[in-house]
Parts: sequence; C-alpha cells; structure tokens
Amino acid sequence: HQQEQQLHVRKQKEIKSGDLGDDEDGSGGGGGLEGTDPEENNSVHLKRRVGLVSGVALIVGTMIGSGIFVSPSGLLVRTGSIGISFLVWTACGLLSLCGALAYAELGTMNTSSGAEYAYFMDAFGAPPAFLFSWVSTLVLKPSQMAIISLSFAQYAVEAFAADCDPPEEVVKIVALLAIILILLVNCYSVNLATGVQNAFTAAKLIAILVVIAGGSYKLIQGNTQHLKGAFDTMDGGTVNIGRLATAFYTGLWAYDGWNNLNYVTEEIKNPSKNLPRSIMIGIPLVTLCYALINVSYLAVMSPSEMIESEAVAVTFGNRILGVMAWLMPLSVAISTFGSANGTLFAAGRLCFAASREGHLLDCLSYVHVRRFTPAPGLIFHSLVAGAMVLSGNIDSLIDFFSFTAWIFYGGAMLALLVMRRTRPNHPRPYKCPLMIPVLVLGISAYLIVAPIIDKPQIEYLYAAGFILAGMLVYLPFVKYGYVPKFMEGVNAFLQMLLEVAPTAAAFD
Ligand code: ARG
Repeated sequence: HQQEQQLHVRKQKEIKSGDLGDDEDGSGGGGGLEGTDPEENNSVHLKRRVGLVSGVALIVGTMIGSGIFVSPSGLLVRTGSIGISFLVWTACGLLSLCGALAYAELGTMNTSSGAEYAYFMDAFGAPPAFLFSWVSTLVLKPSQMAIISLSFAQYAVEAFAADCDPPEEVVKIVALLAIILILLVNCYSVNLATGVQNAFTAAKLIAILVVIAGGSYKLIQGNTQHLKGAFDTMDGGTVNIGRLATAFYTGLWAYDGWNNLNYVTEEIKNPSKNLPRSIMIGIPLVTLCYALINVSYLAVMSPSEMIESEAVAVTFGNRILGVMAWLMPLSVAISTFGSANGTLFAAGRLCFAASREGHLLDCLSYVHVRRFTPAPGLIFHSLVAGAMVLSGNIDSLIDFFSFTAWIFYGGAMLALLVMRRTRPNHPRPYKCPLMIPVLVLGISAYLIVAPIIDKPQIEYLYAAGFILAGMLVYLPFVKYGYVPKFMEGVNAFLQMLLEVAPTAAAFD
C-alpha cells in the first residue's frame, strides 16, 4: 500500500509541471503527513498545516476573546440572579458543544473549507449558500473582527492611560493598527499565523489560571458569602422568556468561535480524526474555564459590584493582584488579539472557498504564489472590518451579530438533517446522535424568534432585509454570470500587485 501511495505521489509531482517549488517560509509545517499527502503537491494550493494542537488552539484561542472578561455583568443584568446567570453560562457551553458536534459530522463528510457555505451548497444548493457568503463576508466576519479589535484597543490603551478614560479616536486608531498587524501576519505565512494563535492561546490560558487560582484562594479563605442565595432575584431584575434569549446572546458571544475550525478543513492534517478531536477537547475546556472564572469573580466581588464594573476582570485584578494589577488588562489585550487573529484566519478561508465557486469576486479566491496564503480574501475582510471600526459601536453590534449568526447555525443543523435523508450512504467518519441537531435547531429557532417577540426592533428587520437583498445580487451576477468588462483588468492587476494566482482547484 505504501509503495502504491509513493507512486501516486510521484505521478502527481510529474503531472504538476507548474510546481512552484518549496514554500518560502521554509518551516515545512513539521507534520508527518507532509509530503505523503498527494494534496501537498498541488502547484498553488493551501497546504495542510494544522495539526491537533493548532486545531485546538484555533478553537479555544478564538472562542476565548473578550467575552469572559467583560460579559458576566451584562449576563447578570439580563438574568437577574447569579444562579440563573450561571445556568445560562453552562447552557451556552453545552449548546456550543452540541452545535460543534453536529459541525464535526458535517465537516468530516465534506472536507472542503468554508463551513456553512460548503454544507449549504451540499444540502440546499447554490442560492442559500450564496446568501450565507454574502452576509458573512460583508457583515458577520468583519463585525466579529471589528468588535474584537475594538475591545483589544480599549484594554491596550487603558493599560497606559490608567487614570482617565482613553479618547475614542486613540482607541479606534489602535484597533486599526491591530487589524493591520494581524493582516500582515496572516498574509506572511500560515505557520506564523498558527504560531501566533498557539502562543496567544497558551498565554490566555495562563491568565485564566491566574484568575481561577486567585478566586479559589479567596474561597478557601472563606469568602463564600456572594455565592449564597444564588437564585434570589436581585433588585430590579426580572427574567422572562424573551429577555432570557438576549441573555443567551450575551453568553453565546463569549462562546462564539466554536465552529472556527470548520472554516479551514482543507488545511487540517487528517481532518476526519483531528476535526472531531479538536472540537471534543476544545469546547469542554472553554466551558470549564468559563464556569470556574464566574465563581472566581464572585469570590472577590458581590453581584451588584459586578454589574457596576465596566470590565469585571480588571476590577478583579485591582482587588486581588495588588502591584501586579496591570496583568489583567494586558491579559485581556492578549486574549482579544489572539481571538482576532483566529477570526481573520477563518474569514480568509471562507472568502476563498466562496469565491472559488464563483460566488464572490474571482480575485478573492487567489492564493499567494510563494506563501500559500489567501491574501486577497484576508485584505478584503480587513478593509471591511476597518470600515466598521471607524463607524461602529460595539454594544448593539453583538445582539444583531448573534441574531444573524444563529439563523445560519440553525440552517447548518437543517442541512445535516436534510443530508441524513438525501445522502444516507455518504461516508460519515464521525456521526453525531440525531438528537443533537434536532435540539440545536429548536434552540436556534427560539433564539431567533424570542427576542423579536419580547421587544420588536427595526434592526432585526434590517438584518433579515439585508439577507434577502443578497438575492438581488445573486440573480444577475452569479446565476446569469454577468461580469463587468473592467473586472478582467482588475483581476490581472491584482495578480501582479499582490503576487497571487488562482488555485489549482479553481481550474478543476
Ligand atoms: N468568543 C469571542 C469573544 O469572547 C468572539 C469570537 C468571535 N467569533 C468568531 N467566530 N471568530 O470575544
């Protein structure tokens, strides 16, 4: 069998006469699979460089961003008691795990990059897949990036301007600089990007351990008073079923990113094993961290102090770390920077996958000829994210982000159920229990409908309208394939300017 494989590899090498040689960053990816995987030898192609560790880091390092350091107060306000808020935190973790297990089935069934995009193509065909790529390249992914880099900037600046509120312009400029830096890293090399991701993930896990250790110390000393009467409703707090959904939005933002690895399946080594494994290690790990951190916060401050605090983690640091209090804003900055890096990494691949099918501008599917990074897609995302940083404010963005995102997460569950019927015999290296997608589908329906019933807001209508407006673009430009004449020139110019070329797959 081995001989056969070697022969196959050699043949592939001969066929690809346009082989552009070794990758320039020369790191070789360090994986045993490299060189034996026929796909490695494509001329211009994204390479398989993400192993189990990087896979877990791409999930954990993206999920843990600003949420856990900031949202606990918001969640407390929306649930009215620490007991319910703790339940919501845990439920969000379970929901993310269930969602991700369903994505593990989808991602091992169809191993092309692009997550929802690829699964919608399989299950529902081109129009819904296009609508997804339309919304996520123009709104979802850039808004994630914008929110996270703004939080990064807020903490990074705060570390230097301890005694006064940092001016808004400075925060925005720092956010833009962060986006540019992350863009450069990601365009430079895939290994550098995953290296940054791994290092930052390790750093933020250490920061989380510090918080948990500090909290445990206080609890052992007997500071358990805030944990008593957990389900007593605080002053002014009420929960109803619609408000609970928005509490979930806040919590789920902190967990968002659980599907991050599915965007880059084409670059995972041995995806049918490593994708489910990374999910099963990563998401429970994050859930555990979040649960413990919440208890730690309460060991140090009361629920009402938590609500008043702008950033719980920083208040926590000031109370317990003494002269080392600066560690907290620094950790949040590290955490958000890493999360933004993972977000851009995935966003570039989504753009790449959708434009390869002719659903977005052709040039967005090009790959750098020596560095094998999807540079145009990355640049495009950063530009949109930059525009959002300049014009946007983060708070309301999160609710509308979650609203729109859960429409598509629900859609992916439907895709799984549909394909169980339409492709019953398709190989499924990982198969999740049927209950899971059914449950997640039900919950996502609740998450979409409940906030509208609770408090109808025109913005929800805008979000839905924007999704549908995609159809107006789809018909002329995608279905009937109208391409304005000048695009040829633009494509050629970009190829020379950025040293990018269409991938081998684009020719298939
Ligand atoms: N969960 C992260 C946070 O707490 C945000 C992740 C953004 N989502 C993503 N898919 N990249 O800030």
